[in-house]
Amino acid sequence: MPGKLLRPIQLGSVRIERPLALAPMAGVTNWPFRLLCKEKGCGLVVTEFVSDKAILFDSKRTHEMMELLDVERPAGIQIFGADADTMARAAARVVELERPDFVDINMGCPAPKVTKGRGGSSLLKEPDTAEEIVRQVVRAVAPVPVTVKFRIGWDASSINAVDIARRAEGAGAQMLTVHGRTREQQYGGQADWDVIGQVARSVAIPVLGNGDIVTPQQAAQRLETTGCAGLAIGRGAMGNPWVFQRTVHYLETGEVLPEPDARERVDTALRHLDLMIEYRGEYLAVREMRKHAAWYLKGLWGAAETRNLINTAEKPDELRQILLEYLERSARHRHIGAEPGPGDDLPEDAPDSCDAYVSTADE
Ligand SMILES: Cc1cc2nc3c(=O)[nH]c(=O)nc-3n(C[C@H](O)[C@H](O)[C@H](O)COP(=O)(O)O)c2cc1C
Repeated sequence: MPGKLLRPIQLGSVRIERPLALAPMAGVTNWPFRLLCKEKGCGLVVTEFVSDKAILFDSKRTHEMMELLDVERPAGIQIFGADADTMARAAARVVELERPDFVDINMGCPAPKVTKGRGGSSLLKEPDTAEEIVRQVVRAVAPVPVTVKFRIGWDASSINAVDIARRAEGAGAQMLTVHGRTREQQYGGQADWDVIGQVARSVAIPVLGNGDIVTPQQAAQRLETTGCAGLAIGRGAMGNPWVFQRTVHYLETGEVLPEPDARERVDTALRHLDLMIEYRGEYLAVREMRKHAAWYLKGLWGAAETRNLINTAEKPDELRQILLEYLERSARHRHIGAEPGPGDDLPEDAPDSCDAYVSTADE
C-alpha cells in the first residue's frame, strides 16, 4: 500500500525525507511544538509567519519567533509583506541570521490587518506583485530555496491558484503549499482538494496539499487522488502531534495505530509546558499552554471540567497539578484511556477566525 505515496523531495541542497509537514500556525507552531511534532514523525516544519518590516526592525520578539533548533531541520522561516524590495531585504536578513533550510512566502493569511497592507492572501489579487515578490526573494537568498504558501483564490469568483502556482514556479519558487480555501472562506466551509489537485498537476515543482486533514486515512486518500508530493497538517496537529506518527505508520503499513491514551497525552502536555518555559519564561508559557493543554485533553473521558480549570492556571505548578489530578481521576475511572480521541475532527475551539494569526504577528 501507500508506502510510496510519500517520496523524498529534494529542495536545492536540502533533502526532505518525508514530505509530511506541520503547517505554519501563528501562536502555535513555535519551536517547542515543532520539536514535539518532529519527534512524532513530522518531516518538515515552518515557523509561524513574521512580517518583513518586523524583521528589518530587528526586534527581540521577531528573533525569538524565527529561532530554529538544529534538531528540527529541515525547517523554513515564513515571511509576509507586500513590497518586493522589502521582502527581499527581509529574506536576506532572515538567511543571514538563522540560516533556514528554505524561506517560505505567505500568500494565504486572510486577516484584515495583513490584507489591508496588501500582504498575505491579498497578493492573490495582484498576481504581478506576487510574482515579483517571489522573483526578488529568490534572487536575494539564492542558493537557499524559496517556497510559497497560498490559498486557492481571493473568493469563489476569482479562483486563480493554478495561475499563481505557475507564476511562482516561473519566478523560481521550488515548492508550493496550497491551502484549498479562498480568502473569503477564512477557515469555514471545506478545503477544495480538486483545485489543489489541479495545481499539483500544472507545475513541475512539488506541491504540498493542505486543508482539513485529521486522520491517517484522509491523508492517504488525498495523496492518492491529487498527485500532491506531500501534505501539510495544521489544526489536526493541535494537541495531537501523534497525527504524524500515525499517518506515517498507516502510509507505510496500512495499519491504523490506536490513539494515544490519557497518560501519553498528559506526559506530552507536561513536556510541552517545560519546553514552553524555556522558550517564553514561566509567565507567558502558562498562558500560552492553556490552549494546548485543553487540546491535548480533547475527547478524553471527563475532561470538560479540567479544561475549564486549565484556563485558571497562573503558575506552571498549578497547571501541572491540574493535569496530573486529571490523570489520577481518569485512572480511577474504568474508562481509562482515549474515547473517542482527537483523531476524528478538528479541535472544536480551533480558531475559525484569524485572531491568533494576527495578534502574534503584531507582537
Ligand atoms: C491559529 C492559526 C494560525 C495560522 N497561522 C498561519 C501562518 O502563520 N502562516 C500560514 O501560512 N498559515 C497560517 N495558518 C493556516 C494554516 O497553515 C493552514 O493553512 C490552515 O489552518 C488549513 O490547514 P488545516 O485544515 O490542516 O488546519 C494558520 C491557521 C491557524 C488555525
